Amino acid sequence: MTNAFRFQTVPTLVVEYGAARRLGALLRAQFPALTRVCVVTDGFLHASGLLDPALADLAAHGWDATVIHDVIADPPEHIVLEATSRARMAGAELVLGLGGGSSMDVAKLIAVLAPQRQQELSEMYGVNKVTASRLPLVQMPTTAGTGSEVTAVSIVTVGEAKKMGVVAPQLIADLAILDAELTLGLPVAATAATGVDAMVHAIEAYTSAHLKNPVSDLLAVKALDLLSRNLLPACEDGHNRQAREAMLLGATFAGQAFANAPVAAVHALAYPIGGIYHVPHGLSNALVLPHVLRFNAAAAAPLYAELADVVVPGVTGSDESKTQALIQRLEQMIAATAIPARLRDVGIEISGLERMASDAMLQTRLLVNNPRPVSEADALAIYAAAF
Ligand SMILES: NC(=O)c1ccc[n+]([C@@H]2O[C@H](COP(=O)([O-])OP(=O)(O)OC[C@H]3O[C@@H](n4cnc5c(N)ncnc54)[C@H](O)[C@@H]3O)[C@@H](O)[C@H]2O)c1
Ligand SMILES: [Fe+2]
Repeated sequence: MTNAFRFQTVPTLVVEYGAARRLGALLRAQFPALTRVCVVTDGFLHASGLLDPALADLAAHGWDATVIHDVIADPPEHIVLEATSRARMAGAELVLGLGGGSSMDVAKLIAVLAPQRQQELSEMYGVNKVTASRLPLVQMPTTAGTGSEVTAVSIVTVGEAKKMGVVAPQLIADLAILDAELTLGLPVAATAATGVDAMVHAIEAYTSAHLKNPVSDLLAVKALDLLSRNLLPACEDGHNRQAREAMLLGATFAGQAFANAPVAAVHALAYPIGGIYHVPHGLSNALVLPHVLRFNAAAAAPLYAELADVVVPGVTGSDESKTQALIQRLEQMIAATAIPARLRDVGIEISGLERMASDAMLQTRLLVNNPRPVSEADALAIYAAAF
């Protein structure tokens, strides 16, 4: 017997090495009647020249492009609102997110906010709160990654430190374009952190408590296979095209999985680390991942054992021992990338753990998906183990 389920994803996915260099033509074919495109990216990517070939091809195909390049990591609300007014002033007809998760998340909200004034951003936080329709939306990731190119999620930093999510089907793009060439120059620390983020998406989707389904399972397993085999090769040689292509595809598959079978306690405990201490999202996840998996093992060992078959091929033994093997392999992988392993290594003081645990409890949207209930005391114990 199969439980009823719903699976939604982006209607069109283009996977093409070098696609950025013919972006204008690609968009012209898909949106023949439009002219004004708003390109959403961050200052570093814009200044780096990485996007120049894409921008040149937009111009060559008659696109009038307004580039908004003031996205910052873990984008705060004011960045979203300022970018929205610029897009409105430019009369944007199409929004293109071109960057990491931060740029793509801002692009989603611009597409929803720019064409209407009935609903404020502050009314959109939560699940299915968006009422408006949006401008046409295209996503092109430069990290592998958040999977934001195929998810219905946008994460905004509200106030000083709180990360809040807008989750609504309107945020699923019309088109996602995967060009691994854009990721060749991603530095090793960012490759590792964003790659671990993608692996966490796959793991948490596979154990998601309510909405896990046969399609999300298929995608999560394939994602974890691609990501776990290619993370270290991509870190060792950033110009390894095959590894970069596998990482980008794996991150997108993981995104499609968790867009339907949502993430849980690893993300809930990672958000306060990013929100309060501005630790990059993927690294925040990596710091708590093994400790959350150990905590969850009591409830999720049968599923973790299935993932162990993917990440540690040939592993044998009980579900519990396979789970231990999975956790150990993930820890070894994280250590081999040389990203920090402990909370104390990223400037967190032991006195900060209580606030982090209490902030993590606010992530009820995520915690409900965890295979084992997490109390505030549990969260504190997990942070202590990760310290
Ligand atoms: N919407 C979702 O489904 C979802 C899922 C997970 C995380 N997120 C959010 O996404 C954000 C994190 O995104 P991210 O991890 O992709 O990082 P990011 O977008 O914040 O970028 C991090 C840094 O990497 C640089 N960078 C990006 N691509 C590069 C490239 N190809 N070469 C060189 N440098 C490059 C950027 O300039 C930036 O300085 C967080 O806000 C997180 O909460 C969203
Ligand atoms: Fe994530």
